[in-house]
Amino acid sequence: MSLMDKHSVIEKNATLLLAGSLLVVTIGGIVEIAPLFYLDNTIEKVEGMRPYSPLELVGRNIYVREGCYLCHSQMIRPFRDEVERYGHYSLAAESMYDHPFQWGSKRTGPDLARVGDRYSNEWHTQHLTNPQSVVPESIMPSYGFLKDTPLDVKDFSTHLVANADVGVPYTAEMIANANADLKAQADPAADTTALEKRYPKVKVGDFDGNPAQVTEMDALVAYLQMLGTLVDFKNYDESAGYR
Ligand code: HEC
Repeated sequence: MSLMDKHSVIEKNATLLLAGSLLVVTIGGIVEIAPLFYLDNTIEKVEGMRPYSPLELVGRNIYVREGCYLCHSQMIRPFRDEVERYGHYSLAAESMYDHPFQWGSKRTGPDLARVGDRYSNEWHTQHLTNPQSVVPESIMPSYGFLKDTPLDVKDFSTHLVANADVGVPYTAEMIANANADLKAQADPAADTTALEKRYPKVKVGDFDGNPAQVTEMDALVAYLQMLGTLVDFKNYDESAGYR
């Protein structure tokens, strides 16, 4: 019996074919799934990642609330055109504290994964208030009302607690100081030593050009300004990613 003949036996017997297919799929499944039971973490650890500061976290919630993800992705793919335009491709670790992640699948506007530090705070506030005033051909809607909306939550620590519940390593100290940290980050006159210790590389200052109150604009701009700035790619070992 040649190999062809043997195979035609399977092809002609539906039950045998089904049993054979199941066997093959099971082997494939085990090979893919079993290793995950023996790994502590599927995300490669990267130096520099930390949970969001309270102000950044609140800004991120506003980003989600306003649906910015409907036009903007936060995921730089490892293609040459993307890396040349946006910077180093996104690492899994960079969204490990995102609940929910903001990778997105629609790019009406540019990717924002590394927009932090690319523009000044003034630019962002002006752009969010009236996009066409800085990019005349822009079709981005205006979000000027954020500048007039004070952050009126009584206890910001609840944002941290919610994230801690799903595994973000907020410490008791971070949670206890959430309100003070949030105010300090948006106040250029505040002593930010403790804040900077808790959240290395945190950007402090008055983000929306109105030092009198902390607004939703302050929070959103603080969030945009930190995007993609935590990992120092000078210290990142490219080859380690391909072990
Ligand atoms: C209807 C689609 C749309 C929505 C919704 C939208 N944007 Fe945009 N955005 C754009 C477009 C198009 C551009 C490119 C033109 C420009 O710079 O205004 C852009 C540009 C930007 C830029 C500049 C990026 C760069 O690298 O130059 C930032 C920052 C930005 N948007 C933030 C936001 C934020 C924050 C929100 C939510 C509050 C938002 N966008 C909502 C379409 C959108």
